[in-house]
Amino acid sequence: MSINEGSVVLSKDKNCVEIIDQTLLPLEERIISLSTPEEIYDAIYYLKVRGAPAIGICAGYGMYVLAKQIKKEPFLDELLRLGDYLNSSRPTAVNLSFAVNRLCNVAKKNILLPREELLELMRLEAEKIHKEDIEMCRSIATFGLELVKAGDTILTHCNAGPLATSKYGTGLGTFFLAKEKGIELKAYCDETRPLLQGARLTVYELQNAGVDCTLICDNMAAALMKQGKIDACFVGCDRVALNGDAANKIGTLGVAVLAKHYGVPFYVFCPSSTVDKNCKTGDDIVIEERKSSEIFEMFYEKPVAREGTKCYNPAFDVTDHELITAIVTEKGIWRGDESFETFLRRKNIID
Ligand code: MRU
Repeated sequence: MSINEGSVVLSKDKNCVEIIDQTLLPLEERIISLSTPEEIYDAIYYLKVRGAPAIGICAGYGMYVLAKQIKKEPFLDELLRLGDYLNSSRPTAVNLSFAVNRLCNVAKKNILLPREELLELMRLEAEKIHKEDIEMCRSIATFGLELVKAGDTILTHCNAGPLATSKYGTGLGTFFLAKEKGIELKAYCDETRPLLQGARLTVYELQNAGVDCTLICDNMAAALMKQGKIDACFVGCDRVALNGDAANKIGTLGVAVLAKHYGVPFYVFCPSSTVDKNCKTGDDIVIEERKSSEIFEMFYEKPVAREGTKCYNPAFDVTDHELITAIVTEKGIWRGDESFETFLRRKNIID
């Protein structure tokens, strides 16, 4: 597995999901194998695999791997139970339930086939989710090129690169494609407290690709915008509602508010697998809350607050569509001149 080509694959013998353990990066590139429901659940919960599309790809292969092990009858009941279990690992990224549902639907439709044939169809569906993501990322990155010019400096938040997807990434894809085409872009990367995906993963990916990038603490973005040092903000997303409200890593909303204040374009990069047609607005999006230890001790040699300190640790926030300059999908760019829902329909992203 190459780190620029994503972080999730099905093993050669097709009996486990292999992932790059993102919690160990950038210090160690270790591939781990997942073959039990608990291993897959934990890998998602503990962010060994993270980023909405990568979680979806892992869940797709994971459902296939687990389906092969099912001995209990009825098969479908057991498969749905496993799907619910994986689904409960993280609530916000819609790609997780999207992938689980796709695999379950293939099983439901083909339940009368001999088991080997049914499993083969499930494997093909999981591979399709993976391949579709590669194509969507490439297309999103290409549209992203329309939003930049050589020499631009872009602020990033969290990580929306190949590790979080399959190849290229969504929010970072434009950097890699620009590099391939000889267009130089620069990045300022928010470290992204508390889990530091920006510092640990985005900087790592951009450095590997030879992109000029500078790490900043999250609370420095305002000063940079005020100084006119940022030409645009590029972020990914975990679930986007029909009105264009977009859930992404905690802190994204703050960046969007600052960008509006200082007149900096704020772009969300969104594969159609991240659109949730069941959410009318961002108010319908469930926000994951995580352990307080992530705030006060996880990345510190010594705890930075007293044991028992009350903490609030929401993992995501929702950026109101009014703050978003454009949403870049694999089928084109929504610039707010029609409702996002109309755009999605016109582009056949929803029925
Ligand atoms: O908690 P994480 O690291 O899974 O959160 C990820 C993000 O917020 C990313 O920006 C998002 O999934 C986009 S991935 C292309």
